[in-house]
Amino acid sequence: MPELPPEIARRRTFAIIAHPDAGKTTLTEKLLLFGGAIQMAGAVKARGDARRARSDWMKVERERGISVTASVMSFEYDGRAFNLLDTPGHEDFSEDTYRTLTAVDSAVMVLDAAKGIETQTRKLFEVCRLRDVPIATFINKMDREGRDPFDLISEVENQLQLDVAPATWPIGMGREFKGVYDLIHDRLILIERGHSDAGIAVKGLDDPQLDALLPAHLVTKLREEVEMARGLMKPLDLKSYREGHLTPLFFGSAVNNFGVRELLHGLAEMAPPPRPQPAAGRANGTDEVEPSENKVSGFVFKIQANMDPKHRDRIAFFRLASGHFKRGMKLTHPRTQKQMAIHNPLLFLAADRELAEEAWAGDILGIPNHGSLRIGDALTEGEAIRFTGIPSFAPELLQRVRPDDPMKAKHLGRALEQLAEEGAARVFKPRMDSNWIVGVVGALQFDVLADRIRTEYDIPVHFEATTLHTARWVETENPLELKRFIDNNGSAIADDHDGAPVFMARNAWHLNHTQEQWPLVKFLATKEQS
Ligand code: G4P
Repeated sequence: MPELPPEIARRRTFAIIAHPDAGKTTLTEKLLLFGGAIQMAGAVKARGDARRARSDWMKVERERGISVTASVMSFEYDGRAFNLLDTPGHEDFSEDTYRTLTAVDSAVMVLDAAKGIETQTRKLFEVCRLRDVPIATFINKMDREGRDPFDLISEVENQLQLDVAPATWPIGMGREFKGVYDLIHDRLILIERGHSDAGIAVKGLDDPQLDALLPAHLVTKLREEVEMARGLMKPLDLKSYREGHLTPLFFGSAVNNFGVRELLHGLAEMAPPPRPQPAAGRANGTDEVEPSENKVSGFVFKIQANMDPKHRDRIAFFRLASGHFKRGMKLTHPRTQKQMAIHNPLLFLAADRELAEEAWAGDILGIPNHGSLRIGDALTEGEAIRFTGIPSFAPELLQRVRPDDPMKAKHLGRALEQLAEEGAARVFKPRMDSNWIVGVVGALQFDVLADRIRTEYDIPVHFEATTLHTARWVETENPLELKRFIDNNGSAIADDHDGAPVFMARNAWHLNHTQEQWPLVKFLATKEQS
């Protein structure tokens, strides 16, 4: 692998994956505190409240107490430039989360010490595994009575097929939680000394300082457990972690700001710098873009519309895959073959956004635009490439949407197309029906959409149940076969917002039966963004 320029090598772009309530928000806040990005605890929540107050549709978010929007937070620590991509925790918005995970180089998996792996943890982990995203694990809430560390470790090993290498080991638990032993640097980190204390250097576990500082039964337990852990588990091998086979494990308590510094330090030392990104159509014959390449390229993984309802702005979140970006650069947009001058790129800090004068591979830029950029779009310095692997999911819930005022049908169509481009929902126009069908992955998305169409486009709408089961994009190698299929199944065919044909199945049997009848047609559950 070519050596990375130092500015790129010091970048760490990552996301936190967790089941709701495991402590992701709390951990995010503490990471930002260490990074100096926020001055006081509570700011992430406060910022959330201010943001929520701005737009009406976020009422849904506030009422249900969930975080719908995702964002980027950049901060510096230990000479490293971190970009933390926030992912919505609620499962109805996992689609957004999945796409965000295409833009990171590693992830931190947060587990509640009492609960271990939960449903959402496993789903998100699977997405990381698909892309071999390296994962560090943070076992949170050690200040409460939780499960035995060995029990949690074997759950990770068995359920996720991941080797575990503890980087720290807990001393006690619950009310007896005293701190952790740093197995990499041989340091004792004690909760009573406060989170700003870097710990006490010791000469291994037999150092008598341990006996002087900790209750005897906890020292004995620590020595026994670490000996056992070292005997049972693989050593912390950097290569294995970076290839996604092994997870370094940290213990802590985010709410007490404990163990967070060790995690951050671990990420600074071990987490991978920007990785090559899969791409098609390269002139050099490879199927990747190396971050060390001189020319700027990258892709849009998320669109956020109307962040400020007064200016119908849309921000495209753009992951730089290669090069050194400078403000004002003219980039090529391969999908439309147009040039775009990027005059107002944004960098996101915890509490603010600011104009980005420059950025490097691994960074995330916000590019304001009026709808020209879509999810999956590339921007390059001329090369007509396409970044691959940015998924679009087959919706599992389909409803018909109608404007309360039928005169607004045409406006509604345009609003739906915009929302589809943003990635907020799939919209389908049945060939034999004048009403649009909206498809989502989670039911809550319907509420959010209805609210947004009303407040942002001034079109009150209602959703109606359909008897539809699922939608599948249809493709064939032979265009004539596709035409024959469409002609024969007209009443079940719709077009998505890009004009791609979709088969709308009434039930599982309808889908299976049609698939059997048309063996040359591919029925795709996901479509890569084109
Ligand atoms: P999430 O984003 O993953 O959904 O979790 P979040 O950080 O909101 O944390 C969920 C709950 O767990 C919060 O309590 C939070 O205070 C608590 N928590 C987080 N880290 C720890 C920890 O290390 N130890 C303990 N004991 N609790 C922790 P809440 O009561 O739901 O909210 P709040 O009123 O405390 O804010």
